[in-house]
Order: sequence, then structure tokens, then C-alpha cells
Amino acid sequence: MFDGTLIEKFKSRITPFFYYDLEVLDRTLEEVKKHGIAKGYHIHFAMKANNNHRILEKIKDAGLGVDCVSGGEIRKALEAGFSPNQIAFAGVGKTDQEMEIGLNADIFSFNCESLQEMEVLNQLAKKLGKKATVAVRLNPNIAAKTHKYITTGKNENKFGINPQNLQELFSKLPEWKNLELTGIHFHIGSQILDMQPYVDLCAKANEYNRIFEENGVELKHVNLGGGLGIHYDTPDKDDIPNFELFFSTFEDHLELKEGQQVHFELGRSIVGQCGNLISRVLFIKEGVNTNFAIIDAGMTELIRPALYQAAHNVEVLTSEKPQKKYDVVGPICESSDTFRYGVEIPEVNRGDLVAIQSCGAYGQVMSSDFNLRERAATVYSTEL
Ligand code: LLP
Repeated sequence: MFDGTLIEKFKSRITPFFYYDLEVLDRTLEEVKKHGIAKGYHIHFAMKANNNHRILEKIKDAGLGVDCVSGGEIRKALEAGFSPNQIAFAGVGKTDQEMEIGLNADIFSFNCESLQEMEVLNQLAKKLGKKATVAVRLNPNIAAKTHKYITTGKNENKFGINPQNLQELFSKLPEWKNLELTGIHFHIGSQILDMQPYVDLCAKANEYNRIFEENGVELKHVNLGGGLGIHYDTPDKDDIPNFELFFSTFEDHLELKEGQQVHFELGRSIVGQCGNLISRVLFIKEGVNTNFAIIDAGMTELIRPALYQAAHNVEVLTSEKPQKKYDVVGPICESSDTFRYGVEIPEVNRGDLVAIQSCGAYGQVMSSDFNLRERAATVYSTEL
């Protein structure tokens, strides 16, 4: 991914910065089109993963919609030119103001997560003289077999409506005159590479599809959320996620009723591998048991290792020396500000450049100015 000419161009830049390879994004989107959109699936990009304008533009041009989780994201989606009927609005705690932004824009779907939320949405819609189209997010109690913090479809998670509340939902529906229930929605978690949880999800979705029909609700769509994982360990070899396997799993296991649409909300799998965090080695320090390579990027730019014990590949760009073992750490005064523990990489010295790979999803968007650090710049491959 990083050839000599590119590395030369990196050398003169202030680090750290996010580098986006738009060619990788293009190839990824081609695969999404080929295996998803071409089958008639509606794909919403989960904007929470990355909201850079250039990236949104490409995603929109490829024909995807968007999945937003705040009023700010809905505004950004509209600014970026997504059509309101391509916008889904998710989130367990939407404020009244945020719901009004969605209502005024006449978005495709409010993915509602509680009966109280539906009650409030109905009132707000009435006030504005609107009818909100709603998908009910259901908690299917499925283990996504991923990190605890990004598991969202188990009973103990705060997300979705549980089966015991469904009868109450069906009985209240006729009262909610300003809501139109058009879909059911699920999202079981993130960074999922094993397809079995999705097979289980299909079984649950089929069951709920039947239950809604039996209770007189005609569903127009089933939204299966996102969660497809990427290969953090082999980003160069596996730069495009296995969309073929992902979509065919649903094709094989989902039972739809006449005319029902299928929607997905993919985030990480679309943008994860196109982003890299480029950083410089500041200092090398010999510890008691380990060598520390202290770099100028930290948990302020990429919090995933500190928050989810994620291991991103560290590619050394300017040294071909024999391998040495390091803890690759950032400059923040937190011991969790460690990118890798005991990783073997070519020996590095002050001034060497490294790329922390697979940062396109939940990298820049989760960054902060903790310690009053300057925000890292954004560099696109097409600009160099
Ligand atoms: N739909 C809903 C309702 C979601 O909550 C999410 C992500 C997605 C779709 C997109 O999921 P994806 O395809 O990207 O897995 N910050 C964490 C990931 C949090 C994901 C939250 N929800 C990380 O860095 O691993």
C-alpha cells in the first residue's frame, strides 16, 4: 500500500495525520455494489464510522444511503446530498430536537428503541403535522461473539425492544396516528467475522416477521444493521471484506414476504481499510523488560486499542533494519495509551515514520483534543 514515492511525500508533512487511500475505498464500494446493491439490498453507510466529506461523497455516488445517530449526522447527510428517503435514524436516546430534525426532513426511517420513544415521536410528529415512518429495533438476544463493548444484541444490552413488550406495542399502535410502522430493525454488534451469529439473526428476523404479520402489521422492510468485521491483522492482504459471504448468508437464510425490502447499515467494513494514521517516532526508551517506541500519535487520534484492546497493524515505513521487539506507545499520560505490546517490527529510531493501519472506521471520528492536542490533519491519496 505504501510505495517509495508516497513515503517520500509523507516525510515533509507534520505528523500525525490521517491518510485515506481513496482507491481502496473505490474498490470496496465496487464489491458492495456487486454483492449487495445488485441483489436489490439497500445499504446505508453508518456515518458514525467516518464522516469526512470526501468519503461521504464517494459513498453517496456509489448509491448507498446513510445511517445516522444524531441530529448533527442527519444535517451532515443532507449537506452531503443524501436524499432524505435514504436516511435511517438510529439511537437509543434521541432528543426531541433531534427527532424534530428528522421529522422536518421526512427521513426514510426512525429506528425506535423503546415504547416511550415511539410515544414521544408520535407527539412530536403530531405537533409538526407529520407522519413518521418507523422501524422497531428488536433485541434478538444473540451473541455476536465480539468484544463485550461492541456487542449490542444481548438481553443485558441497552438496545432494542424486548419480546415481552411486543403485545403492548401492538395494542398501542392504533393510538399512534402519526406513526407508520414500516419495518423491523436489528443490530447485533460490530467487528463480526464469523457468519453464525448472522445465521441466528436471520432465524430471529424470520420469526419476528411472522409475529408482526400475525398481529396485523404489514412490514415493508427488514433492516439487519451492520457489523461485518475487517482483518486488522492482515490489512494489506485482506483489504476488502468478504461482502460476498456476508450478503449470501442473508440471501440463504432470510425468509421474506412479498415485496419486502432488505436494508443493512454497514460502517467499518466500508471505510475501515482505507484509513491509516501516519505517525513519527519521537523517542526510543529502554525499559526494564521492554523497549518503548514513543510515537507522536496517541489515544487522542485512535482510542480503539485503549478502549477495546484492539491491535492495529503497525507498518514501519522508513526502516528496513532487522526486527526488534517494542511496545509502541503514544505521548499521553495514560498507560492505556499503547498501540501494541511486544510487537516485532524493524528497528526504528527518532524520526522514522510508521503507519497504523485500518483506521478508517472509528478512528478520526472518535478522536479528541484531550491534553489540548491539535487535531490531526486529513490527507487524501488523490491530493498527493
Ligand atoms: N447500525 C447500528 C444501529 C449501530 O449501532 C452500528 C454501530 C452500525 C450500524 C455500524 O456497525 P459496523 O458495520 O460499523 O460494525 N467504536 C467501535 C464500534 C462501535 C459500533 C457501534 N455501532 C469500534 O471502534 O470498534
